Amino acid sequence: EKGMYPHFMLKEMDEQPGVIRKILQAYENEQGELAMDENIVNAFNEADRLYIIAAGTSYHAGLIGKHYFEKIAGIPVEVHISSEFGYNMPLLSEKPLFLFITQSGETADSRQVLVKIKALGYPSITLTNATGSTLSREADHTLLLYAGPEIAVASTKAYTAQVAVLAIAAYVVAKKRGKTVEIDLKKELAITANAIQTLVDSKEEMEQIAHEFLAVSRNAFFIGRNLDYYVSLEGALKVKEISYIQAEGFAGGELKHGTIALIEEGTPVFAIVTQQAVSLNTRGNVKEVVARGANPCILSMEGLEEENDRFVLPKVHALLTPLVAVIPLQLISYYAALHRGCDVDKPRNLAKSVTVE
Ligand code: M6R
Repeated sequence: EKGMYPHFMLKEMDEQPGVIRKILQAYENEQGELAMDENIVNAFNEADRLYIIAAGTSYHAGLIGKHYFEKIAGIPVEVHISSEFGYNMPLLSEKPLFLFITQSGETADSRQVLVKIKALGYPSITLTNATGSTLSREADHTLLLYAGPEIAVASTKAYTAQVAVLAIAAYVVAKKRGKTVEIDLKKELAITANAIQTLVDSKEEMEQIAHEFLAVSRNAFFIGRNLDYYVSLEGALKVKEISYIQAEGFAGGELKHGTIALIEEGTPVFAIVTQQAVSLNTRGNVKEVVARGANPCILSMEGLEEENDRFVLPKVHALLTPLVAVIPLQLISYYAALHRGCDVDKPRNLAKSVTVE
């Protein structure tokens, strides 16, 4: 039920701090340490390469999952769009493990891959919000999101839940492998939940940004580097699917290889700056588009902010910035859709679960 909310999407965005806290409880052992099913930890540990298979927003979460599994657990990862993978399988490693990320657990594109890799005898895990869903039943193991039902077609809390559970999985597997883990993930995720709360409480500011940048624009760009690039892809998808504005997410450095030709006077460019190592590079890319007339909206992380940034994100651990950077983008796309009179919860041409290939 929506209760006092005008839309499920707004309710589901607001639920995100609670979802992160619930996940922290669900993935805790009796000693209060982050933990998960031993069989699942072993499956990750035994693999020489992880293949993440997903579609849409879940694919975007998978890109962040790759970063976590490689940087925290030291396991090489490939992330694939499910509709491509099944019909053009890459050369596989000797001991692959397949991780299907699917909020609904019913996505036909992902299921056809599961059917194929099972026939080849490879192990599989489904990361899903739906116990008893098709992909949960058919995979060897299930990891749950604990996000509660997501009704709005635009995925919000499932994405943040996916990112949080992927971080926990990478962390638990790293510990199992005896890796030195620098991050106190439990503490940092709790800090992140509070930061998300601050952001969902900043709705007026986000509404203002949506009004200022997306009220009449035909198109919009989202840029970032590293983890910020992955969040840019997700921000652009949110804007596209509910406000019907042509939006693209780009790696900041890639713009000048073609896309920058599209920048005109007033084109909105949202830039995400949360990664210190590449913050100046992204700012350089903003200068390039501003020189061609773009209207920049820089969202930077506390500690990396500069004078003309439009919004400063509360500081969280560098690995967890996607969980906070995505929130303003979700809210901005919501208000843009609202202002433009779009059906926020049920955008045209889309279904919540895509059960056909
Ligand atoms: O249920 P799934 O996670 O498998 O769904 C995958 C995509 O269809 C889904 O994420 C879609 O992109 C959303 N509408 C995005 O908001």
